[in-house]
Amino acid sequence: MTLVLGIETSCDETSIALLDGDGRAVASIVASQTGAHARFGGVVPEIAARAHLTNLPPLLDRTLAEAGASLRDVTLVAATAGPGLVGALLVGLSEAKGIAFGLGVPFVPVHHIEAHGLSPFLGRQGEPARPVPDEFTALVVSGGHTHLYRFRGPRVALLARTRDDAAGEAYDKVAKMAGLGYPGGPVVDRLARTGRAAQPFAVPRFSDGSLDFSFSGLKTAVRDRLAALGLRPQTGIPDAIRTVEEREASPSLRDLLAEFQEAVVAQLEDRLSRVLLEERFVTLTVSGGVAANSLLRERLAAWGRKRSVEVLLPDRALTGDNAVMVAFAGLRRHLAGRTGEGFAAVARSRWPLESLE
Ligand code: KG4
Ligand code: ZN
Repeated sequence: MTLVLGIETSCDETSIALLDGDGRAVASIVASQTGAHARFGGVVPEIAARAHLTNLPPLLDRTLAEAGASLRDVTLVAATAGPGLVGALLVGLSEAKGIAFGLGVPFVPVHHIEAHGLSPFLGRQGEPARPVPDEFTALVVSGGHTHLYRFRGPRVALLARTRDDAAGEAYDKVAKMAGLGYPGGPVVDRLARTGRAAQPFAVPRFSDGSLDFSFSGLKTAVRDRLAALGLRPQTGIPDAIRTVEEREASPSLRDLLAEFQEAVVAQLEDRLSRVLLEERFVTLTVSGGVAANSLLRERLAAWGRKRSVEVLLPDRALTGDNAVMVAFAGLRRHLAGRTGEGFAAVARSRWPLESLE
């Protein structure tokens, strides 16, 4: 019986999962380090790597216990090899290789963005994965990435990417400026839903016709609007950031956040519509931390219904970094006989997905 052990340590989540041969998560645990990084207003690589090192051994025991399995039941090991923080990646990658080597089972290095892109095919806990079509389009929106890809057979083509900030990064920066703490996505999402987007920001487009994304102009526009409203943008030493209690947020701040959120979603819709005009597709996966966003989920689902595009969103628990998607991406590559560098894989901070065989 197939039992895949997946390990994810590319950023600030330590995660381990066990997946069966039907892509069903048998056990899955995500240990978030948010608390350790919050006072710095962002992820500190050295702290992340050390936390992974401490978290992994007990997490492995808990995951096995949850599955009622023993390490000897594992038939395949997969771990994220990049892109991500090299020190953080190395911890999970080395642990995974060691386990696979010790057990005498294959090891599959996994590309983090490929794993996100496949995550919407996973079922809820206890359900098998649905079949992955030969061709689909994937929008990955996270704290580190805003990328649009076309998966076709063994090849992946990059259609668009952000030229500056990632969508999640824009959420985090806006939250920081508004004194709302870190990470910014969930709190901005909640507050924005209580505001009104009366003065929407324009959707940026490049004059060369490129479909690339851009969020840094929006961030600057929000900063200016914060100042105009007399809501002083929070700058200075991260430690000194005053955290605004959610209930203290003024109506004008809620409206501004609604306008920001509207602009992020409108830009995603704009790029998707233009890609669809260039070349029709029938399946779209939307994944990554920002795919937890409530407005994005509603609007992109409606976008797809209108255009007969099947839009697949991951279960909210699988939007952020998790090892279930890593195990699934590893299993898919193993079954296709495309395990890349296998045990020879190294940790990579940059690793273009389209370069993978
Ligand atoms: O995929 P992820 O866990 O880590 C990366 O690989 O980057 O994504 C984290 C990002 C953060 O920027 C966070 O603020 C954002 O996802 N995020 C959200 C929401 N929940 C998390 N952004 C918007 N709305 C949300 N509800
Ligand atoms: Zn991620």
